[in-house]
Amino acid sequence: MSYEAILVETQGKVGLIRLNRPKALNALNDQLMTELGDALKAFDADEAIGCIVLTGSEKAFAAGADIGAMANYSYMDAFKGDYITRNWEEIRRIRKPVIAAVAGFALGGGCELAMMCDFIIAADNAKFGQPEIKLGVIPGAGGTQRLPRAISKSKAMDMCLTARMMDAVEAERAGLVSRVVPLDQLMAEALTAATVIANMSLPAIMMIKESVNLAYESTLTEGVHFERRLFHSTFATEDQKEGMQAFLEKRPAVFKNL
Ligand code: HXC
Repeated sequence: MSYEAILVETQGKVGLIRLNRPKALNALNDQLMTELGDALKAFDADEAIGCIVLTGSEKAFAAGADIGAMANYSYMDAFKGDYITRNWEEIRRIRKPVIAAVAGFALGGGCELAMMCDFIIAADNAKFGQPEIKLGVIPGAGGTQRLPRAISKSKAMDMCLTARMMDAVEAERAGLVSRVVPLDQLMAEALTAATVIANMSLPAIMMIKESVNLAYESTLTEGVHFERRLFHSTFATEDQKEGMQAFLEKRPAVFKNL
């Protein structure tokens, strides 16, 4: 499939998606979000792919939803057009891990999109923020919900109410990102992490993603119970036999994703 607002390639078992509206700092318009959803679903269905990396440019992961495109929206345009739900939520249905490799600005919907990924690796020039309040609106793709879960209520309130940006060092300290690396090493770091993951057992990868995500939706008792049932089910996989046998034979495991 050919895309205009994103670039798509594969590197070994990793699917790489690059947001590609450089003149608008990757502002997220309807076309881009539709293409992104399609590309994510295609990688999710591709047996040869085990992990996905989502990135932008060195200057911007994404500077937010496209302000020009929505400036004249009426309430009915937003509501009846199902703005956001219609094509912003596809990423939440992807079962393989999606790593956000963030350089430069990740603002508004860009920060929200990064937070919808499974984890964020940041370049040292990354800047995160929810500046919607300056536009007279509020975050609309999960900013007020995922940010407090990621970095605490106090910091989330600070970010959403003052619109200040958080640099990469603060973002790592706050737990928003898992690693910070120099800008020129961002893609190597993200692709290496994605390759490590992609060489694991895909059923285990998918179960871990599902189980960690349930931690946000369930009580601890329910979540631990769910995890235990999935853990038990791994003994029905060939990859569990291979993984443990390989350990005992002191050799690398070769998983068949079965
Ligand atoms: C449309 C955008 C844009 C955006 C930047 N551009 N952000 N266009 N939507 N969100 C465009 C600019 O208009 C400009 O186009 C070009 O990108 C370069 O931007 P500059 O402002 O000239 O660059 P700079 O001075 O380096 O400032 C960078 C910036 C600033 C700090 C990131 O662009 C900025 O504040 N952008 C808006 C950030 C924001 O408010 N995001 C939240 C959006 S609302 P021209 O044609 O002039 O060169 C949102 C709601 C989400 O995300 C709700 C869920 C959908």
